[in-house]
Amino acid sequence: MLSGDLRVPDFCGLDFGTSNSTLAVQAGNSTRLMPLEGDDLTLPSAIFFDFEAHQPRFGRAAVQAYVAGTEGRLMRSLKSVLGTSLINEDTQLQTRRIPLHSVIEMVVRHIKATAEAACGRELTRVVHGRPVHFVDGDDEADQRAEDSLLGIARAAGFKDVAFQFEPIAAALHYESQIEREEVALIADIGGGTSDFSIVRIGPDRARRADRLDDILANDGLRIGGTDIDRLLSMETVMPHLGFRSPLATKGLLTPNQWYVDLATWAKINLLYHPAVLAEVRRTARQAVHPRLLERLATVLEHQLGHALAMKVEEAKIALSSARTFDIDLSMVEPGLEAPATRVRLAEAIADPVNRLAAMVQGCLVQAGLKPNQVDAVFLTGGSTLLPAVRDAICAEVPEARVVEGDKFGAVGLGLALDAARKFG
Ligand SMILES: Nc1ncnc2c1ncn2[C@@H]1O[C@H](COP(=O)(O)OP(=O)(O)OP(=O)(O)O)[C@@H](O)[C@H]1O
Ligand SMILES: [Mg+2]
Repeated sequence: MLSGDLRVPDFCGLDFGTSNSTLAVQAGNSTRLMPLEGDDLTLPSAIFFDFEAHQPRFGRAAVQAYVAGTEGRLMRSLKSVLGTSLINEDTQLQTRRIPLHSVIEMVVRHIKATAEAACGRELTRVVHGRPVHFVDGDDEADQRAEDSLLGIARAAGFKDVAFQFEPIAAALHYESQIEREEVALIADIGGGTSDFSIVRIGPDRARRADRLDDILANDGLRIGGTDIDRLLSMETVMPHLGFRSPLATKGLLTPNQWYVDLATWAKINLLYHPAVLAEVRRTARQAVHPRLLERLATVLEHQLGHALAMKVEEAKIALSSARTFDIDLSMVEPGLEAPATRVRLAEAIADPVNRLAAMVQGCLVQAGLKPNQVDAVFLTGGSTLLPAVRDAICAEVPEARVVEGDKFGAVGLGLALDAARKFG
């Protein structure tokens, strides 16, 4: 618990992320991230329904229970279903079915309760982060996604809920660290979305009540680390399971959809259906290389989809510092490996990375600024650790100082600052 002399108000900032979540409160004159799992200040946004113990597990514990082979169902990247039709679909848990928005509510309720235990008081008011766009080019879907989150936050027990764009929150956090006024490009590249803001910030401006004039540009794309995982998986792992493999009928290939779903965190569970397994086995009989489809059948039968996706994510992260990495697929077949290299990864993600660079250019136009008028580029979100991503963004503002933000905490801390402005 926080030391007794620090009175924590009843408001907080909640960064419910595609991959990781944080919650921050105001403690004295500063904002602080609350421990959400043991001493860890982040909670992986994962839930595991344990069919043996009949209780949900969250975060690292959820992933560990799944990896240990406990019978149950793992769900990750839940935020990416917001704004899509999947949000109203049910997920099958043994004999019961529960809608995905109820699953997200369980995660938010857990974060709230854990933070409350840590700070020793009930948190009833929240500034909730949101990406600039949940869904590309669809304002109605964006509104539906925010409405879903609002309903979820209320159902989880928050009485007052306000929203703030995640990159603006990161900007408020960065602003609390600088001593002179500057124009900053904020780049928040997370697990599900990439968000950009260009802001005018500084100690004097921080005291102003109305900050609308200081926001020069805002934009975002539904591209994030989970897409990078998918592209790396399609490039390196899925061919070993029969992706784009020929069938006996001339000119026909295996259906793409299984592989896209298997490589997409939020869709893996859709494949764990007896009908899909039967279809894969049928297709194996018509395949030129049936062994590859037998591997896919093994993955579905033993529900290895998340374990595979974790191996791919691990490889992606390793390739941020190493040039080559062999992805271990021995869980599918003894001795099987998929070699990956930084160059192949960069090629596989070239298209989305170019779109990020184009979005920075678009933000400069929105702001009416030339690249050399940006003083600093503030990098936050786990995917800014990828060399190809950060290089592409920084190249658009070559003269700007590169500021390494707290990759996983900047948004949550900024949301708590915003909560103090709104509710304090
Ligand atoms: N060293 C690294 N190199 C490359 N990617 C990394 C590294 N560390 C973490 N990541 C990736 O960062 C992503 C998670 O980042 P982050 O926690 O900022 O996302 P998020 O806030 O949950 O998502 P979003 O804001 O999009 O909802 C994951 O895709 C993860 O694989
Ligand atoms: Mg984020």
